[in-house]
Amino acid sequence: MPVDVLIGLQWGDEGKGKIVDYLAPDYQMVARFQGGPNAGHTLNIGGKKFVLHTIPSGIFHENMVNLVGNGVVLDPVTFAKEIAALAAIGIDTRKTLQIARKVHLILPTHRVLDAASEAAKGVAKIGSTLKGIGPAYMDKTGRNGLRVGDIEAKDFKDRYNALKEKHLRLLEQFDYQADLSAMEAEWFDGVETLRKQKLVDGEYLINEFLRAGKNVLAEGAQGAMLDIEFGTYPFVTSSHTSAAAACTGLGVAPSLIRDVIGITKAYCTRVGSGPFPTELTGDDGEAMRKAGNEFGSTTGRPRRCGWMDVVALNYTVMLSGVTQLIVTKADVLNIFDEVKAATSYKVNGKPASSVPFDLCGTEVEPVYETLRGWSGVDLSDVSHQGVLSDFVLFLERATNVPVRLVSVGPERSQLIERQAISAVNKNLSV
Ligand code: GDP
Ligand code: IMO
Ligand code: MG
Repeated sequence: MPVDVLIGLQWGDEGKGKIVDYLAPDYQMVARFQGGPNAGHTLNIGGKKFVLHTIPSGIFHENMVNLVGNGVVLDPVTFAKEIAALAAIGIDTRKTLQIARKVHLILPTHRVLDAASEAAKGVAKIGSTLKGIGPAYMDKTGRNGLRVGDIEAKDFKDRYNALKEKHLRLLEQFDYQADLSAMEAEWFDGVETLRKQKLVDGEYLINEFLRAGKNVLAEGAQGAMLDIEFGTYPFVTSSHTSAAAACTGLGVAPSLIRDVIGITKAYCTRVGSGPFPTELTGDDGEAMRKAGNEFGSTTGRPRRCGWMDVVALNYTVMLSGVTQLIVTKADVLNIFDEVKAATSYKVNGKPASSVPFDLCGTEVEPVYETLRGWSGVDLSDVSHQGVLSDFVLFLERATNVPVRLVSVGPERSQLIERQAISAVNKNLSV
């Protein structure tokens, strides 16, 4: 009857989709609890690639309930495209997908406001995915938003128009043009798709599930360093991305949370603007981007790349009480002879082991530890997997959290259990 929460510990794109899909058979429900179509969760199954934005990553499992929880913001346009793409491969979402009525809707004008606000910021822009996330959450906290349940109301169109008019007044301050009529037509088509799905009171559904002794995996989006509260503000997203958000984003009590599964890449990436202490701007960063195919799943933008940052990792592990680590993309680092990880910073020239208040306005120099690498090693060969032991042990000691799995390729099957790594490397002290 517990809820396990799975989150990204960095700046997003840690491989959450792949891991949720892999872990899903241990659960009867996968539930998204925050974020929206800014997320792009990739699954590679049997040589085919799928990218999910709103729909939980348990959707490829039969008899799994997939819940879009109240903490999510949903754009009917993206949503309808996802439904259509799944239908094309024979997945009938009306059977297994449930949408909480309290999910907030992203309107076309939210997207326009996002774009106008970013354009007005010029070089100071956040680097938003421009999916309308910020404006939609602003309307939620400003108590103006429209929710999925509202589409069942008779006066839905009037309420839509009232909010749209409010947005148009806000847009007058920007010199920004958009063809709203085409966007609106697509949006209302999306609303019709939404109407055909199962709309539920998510908080009751999930608690009934838990009372019936079933297990739930809560799927986070983005990464903990993009958290609105604790991330690299203002270069963050507009939702809480730490484990605590699973409670408010689904309606489950903190006492029902069992494990917090934190995903980290073996290195770091960031897409969009904002501070990134271990960023590699030269050839090494370029090589990582190429080897890791580091291009945004939602926007296609090149991701900035850099070494593992244990200071930032320990910060996000602390904030979410991570009980299990999963390391992804270990295979990518086999292009290097040695692997580096920042174990402390120099902040304004002084040693520091914590993330400073204003990472944006502070001069931060990472202090690196160099570790044995696995240059040229094909990690799909089981007999070679022991080479990961130094890195895995280093991470466990540095964070005080056990590593449960190491991912060594994009395919569902390319995962190594921690015990297997120790078994190959007999010298490993567990
Ligand atoms: P998410 O947003 O956290 O679900 O991650 P994304 O899907 O945006 O980005 C992760 C990318 O890395 C996707 O293209 C995955 O297919 C890919 N990926 C996941 N795990 C691994 C891995 O262990 N090795 C490699 N090479 N690619 C991986
Ligand atoms: P997944 O779930 C990586 C980043 C954007 C931008 C900032 C704010 O796939 O890990 P927003 O659109 O929320 O206003 O953008 O946050 N961002 C992500 N980066 N992965 C994501 O999601 C992201 N969602 C938002 O690039 O810097
Ligand atoms: Mg992603």
